[in-house]
Amino acid sequence: MIPNLDPHPLRAQFPALGRTVGPYPAVFLDGPGGTQSPTRVIDAMAGYLRRGSSNHGGPFLTSREADATAEAARQAMRDLLNARRPEEIVFGQNMTSLTFSLSRAIAQTWQPGDEIIVTRIDHDANISPWLRAAEDRGVAVRWLDFDPTDCTLALDALPGLLTERTRLVAINYASNAVGTISDVARVVALAHGVGALTYVDAVHYAPHDVIDVQALDCDFLACSVYKFFGPHTGVLYGKYEWLDRLNAYKVRPAADEPPGKWETGTQSYESLSGVTAAVDYLADLGGADGPRRERLVRGMAAIKAYEAELSEHFLRGATGVPGLRVYGITDVESLARRTPTFAIALAGHAPEDVAAWLGERGFFVWHGHYYAIAVMERLGTLDRGGLVRVGFVHYNTIEEIDRLLAALRQLAG
Ligand SMILES: Cc1ncc(COP(=O)(O)O)c(C=O)c1O
Repeated sequence: MIPNLDPHPLRAQFPALGRTVGPYPAVFLDGPGGTQSPTRVIDAMAGYLRRGSSNHGGPFLTSREADATAEAARQAMRDLLNARRPEEIVFGQNMTSLTFSLSRAIAQTWQPGDEIIVTRIDHDANISPWLRAAEDRGVAVRWLDFDPTDCTLALDALPGLLTERTRLVAINYASNAVGTISDVARVVALAHGVGALTYVDAVHYAPHDVIDVQALDCDFLACSVYKFFGPHTGVLYGKYEWLDRLNAYKVRPAADEPPGKWETGTQSYESLSGVTAAVDYLADLGGADGPRRERLVRGMAAIKAYEAELSEHFLRGATGVPGLRVYGITDVESLARRTPTFAIALAGHAPEDVAAWLGERGFFVWHGHYYAIAVMERLGTLDRGGLVRVGFVHYNTIEEIDRLLAALRQLAG
């Protein structure tokens, strides 16, 4: 059974949510850019530093604790992603750095004349690393488009792009610009049909729904813990066989086996303490019964159900704001196919001005392209300052949406 999610008691766990901007309570609508952390994450990170930090691999107390911290975080991420084994979890600075690093290693297996596929709905962190790797190796790049009317991927075109020379498909799980969730399992099945690897960007998806890498059967999947209530740490899942087989760019003393061979330099152990705490926070939303993976599945289902209510409330209210255009899926019957992340435009107002006007009144929203450059280009908004982005997560409330809509109505005049 999916537990009910009441944001009000949960909000008390997030100290930052209590902030004000002058007379206005702060309204954090910038979750797609980075979420706030509950006290348990903050305490876990401070606690690690307070107890004494160390590097890994030493035969003394604090070093053993650093090793245990990394091991616990790996188990936590294994549960969150449903990886087969903890060695399939690699930590790094952020998703972008991990992707650049892995793309260079994968590209070593490519030959001139090979092909890869990237999409126009992706954040640039799942495009540029592949473009650069393709350029290095003389590999052709094919683009999978999306339908600009509802911002859904043109998946029917994918079979026509795949050939026996396709080596990799880089695919977005959910768009950080327009919120569309893509059918990653279908993409993976099609890509595997021609023997191509799949690299999934789940950075935006992770705070909104459960991830199951075994069900997706993807070869790689990346996410970033600061997007799901934890610290600034990137996470890369890779099927063990690939992490083992590929030649990592690493220093000689580093481990030869996964995950160590992929973890360049010293990890942020204080952040890894926070990773475990963030995953445990999400698991607790699913109640106290059963193993952590089961609790996570229930907790994420509770988040998804609650966020659908937020999306519906926003979409219905948005129709009452004169001149407001919402990009992406707006059909309230199709909310399972989107996250509560909305790119919007207000007629007669530059995105930058809207964000600044809202910011003065306590609403934290992004404007511009948020690195989803290909999306903005395709929508024809890149040269016009992009779009305003309003992103809800489970700590946002219906009351906050009502206040936002009232503010937008006031600005629209
Ligand atoms: C969908 C998506 N992919 C990738 C990234 C890059 O993640 P990171 O900041 O961890 O490099 C972001 C960051 O906003 C994102 O939203």
